[in-house]
Amino acid sequence: MYQKNDYIAVFDSGVGGISVLRQLTKLLPNERFLYYGDSANAPYGSRSTEAVRKLTLEAADKILCKPVKALVVACNTATAAAIEDLRQAHPDLIVIGIEPALKLAADRFPGKGIGVMATDVTLREEKFDALLHRTAHDQPIYKIPAPGLVQLIEAGKADSSETEQLLSQILTPYKNKIDVLVLGCTHFPFVRAAIRRVLGDAVVLLDGGEGTARETKRRLALAGLLSDGAGEITWQNSSSDPANAMLCKQLFAQGE
Ligand code: DGL
Repeated sequence: MYQKNDYIAVFDSGVGGISVLRQLTKLLPNERFLYYGDSANAPYGSRSTEAVRKLTLEAADKILCKPVKALVVACNTATAAAIEDLRQAHPDLIVIGIEPALKLAADRFPGKGIGVMATDVTLREEKFDALLHRTAHDQPIYKIPAPGLVQLIEAGKADSSETEQLLSQILTPYKNKIDVLVLGCTHFPFVRAAIRRVLGDAVVLLDGGEGTARETKRRLALAGLLSDGAGEITWQNSSSDPANAMLCKQLFAQGE
């Protein structure tokens, strides 16, 4: 069965899950991580739900050729479209999926205006409606799609004027309406600085990376599968472009 020194696999449609990988390596420094980005097929967020489901299950099959003790779906979009299918296909595996940190935002900031910036798939799936229902209703909650933003981050342009312009277009209409912005896509922590320039410092930015890392640790501890070995990261990507490999390392090193 599963061994303590098996990999924790971290999956995203591309480079976004690296924001979650950073939290995971902070909390679990003794683990062997296998990061798999499907950049050749990114973005997932504007595809049909069925297409995202298929891509996610195919990526999982590739990942699970290696000895893996837990799969972290570090992609809100893939979680929304395919987490149940993944669990059904791999019933014995620990499968953790990231979700927008909306509940955290509502609990911490009751009565305040909350924006959830995420992909089309995440915002239209049933899972998101269920999350809305579980969350306090005495406050305005805005769904904010961000078409084009993931592409810019995948292209290594997180820190460009193009990105800032797009963010300004997307977020300016909400400037006086929201006190908290939930980053409901794992790519978005990499444009935190640009978001701050548009919205100002008073708006709180929240993402689900840390909570996902804590849940991963809790589940592994429960299963007696925490490693006490030397930590390492193995990088895999469906894109063979050397620029992608460089971008992954750069985003990991740079942080959020
Ligand atoms: N990083 C992904 C997420 O958390 C989605 C990006 C994409 O559209 O592929 O939703």
